[in-house]
Amino acid sequence: MESREFKLVPNSGIMATQIYQGGEQPNSAYKHIIKLNSNENPLGPSKYAIQALKSSFDFLNYYPSSSHKLLRQAIADVHDIDSKQIICGAGSDEIISFICQCFCAPNDQVIYTEHGFAMYRISALLRGAIPVKAYENNRIADVDNILKQCNNKTKVVFLANPNNPTGTFLDDNKLKFLLDKLPDNILMVLDGAYAEYIENFDSGLSLVEKYNNLIVLRTFSKIYGLAALRIGWSYSSPEISKIINQVRGPFNISSPAIAAAIAAVKDVDYTKYCLNENLRNREWLSKEFKNLGLNTTDSKANFLLVDFKTDMLAQEIFDHLRSQNIYVRKVNDYGFPKSLRITVGTKNDCRRIKNQIQNFLRLNNEI
Ligand SMILES: Cc1ncc(COP(=O)(O)O)c(C=O)c1O
Repeated sequence: MESREFKLVPNSGIMATQIYQGGEQPNSAYKHIIKLNSNENPLGPSKYAIQALKSSFDFLNYYPSSSHKLLRQAIADVHDIDSKQIICGAGSDEIISFICQCFCAPNDQVIYTEHGFAMYRISALLRGAIPVKAYENNRIADVDNILKQCNNKTKVVFLANPNNPTGTFLDDNKLKFLLDKLPDNILMVLDGAYAEYIENFDSGLSLVEKYNNLIVLRTFSKIYGLAALRIGWSYSSPEISKIINQVRGPFNISSPAIAAAIAAVKDVDYTKYCLNENLRNREWLSKEFKNLGLNTTDSKANFLLVDFKTDMLAQEIFDHLRSQNIYVRKVNDYGFPKSLRITVGTKNDCRRIKNQIQNFLRLNNEI
């Protein structure tokens, strides 16, 4: 039968956008890999999260909570914030997309930092909006450059703090300066996906009371070790929260995910343990890389951006590690063709990757 000519036309921006290229997800049945390419927690989730997840299996025939009331309350209790201003999403990715859906129309402008997380640009493009790059200063977001890019078409500014893939960080004074200067009809998004890796850092939650054009994002995919379950949340003024909630699907998070997230956020001792392990291993690994003559960006998160002499050497090391079942992330798309982003693994993972890189550099007379 002759097929009919395809005549459907998607909205502008949809097909022209290059979709997200994540780190390779190996077959999960294969145990002998070291996966350091997506900034996941190598220690896994809290044991209480796994228990809660298992218990939730008895109720798979029921729809999940639509209000996420218990999860919002658990988050609010731990962070001492108002549960009514929290919105939960299927990963913070979903909330990034909600933000663009709510606030961007075709040809509006969205500001992202030079080496900012790819989903900001992608979500803006999918709405037909124009992503505008604000240059960084030595791999650190530059608030003056962000402010210079603002005009009457600007609707949203996205800033991850610490940033992925650089790991660099802006202190509270710089954030307050930015928020004070930013016109209040522009939404400021502070993405704290890695906030829990910095001790006593609230990633802007306490600023929400003062700035009603601020939304803070968080995720359960990083320190909480629940990336597979897809849970993120936002905190913002009641007005912003109400707007975002309008576009949220009624059952956007599953009950197993909700149950696990409640248990995970309550297990503050385990979160602290993961924070300390990351600090220890990150310090060790960056020191070892330095001893090998490799520069790493000063990271406050659970990964290191490691620079090599040439693009080719970065590619060869990537291929060599891959052949040893060690997965790291290429960051050419972020403008770092000479670098690799390496998630801080367990102590053992860190030793193995350091030894593999050292051996490779030695065999190739690079050290
Ligand atoms: C800065 C940043 N924001 C958001 C996300 C998305 O996280 P989620 O798994 O919650 O969608 C990531 C994931 O890598 C990230 O690095």
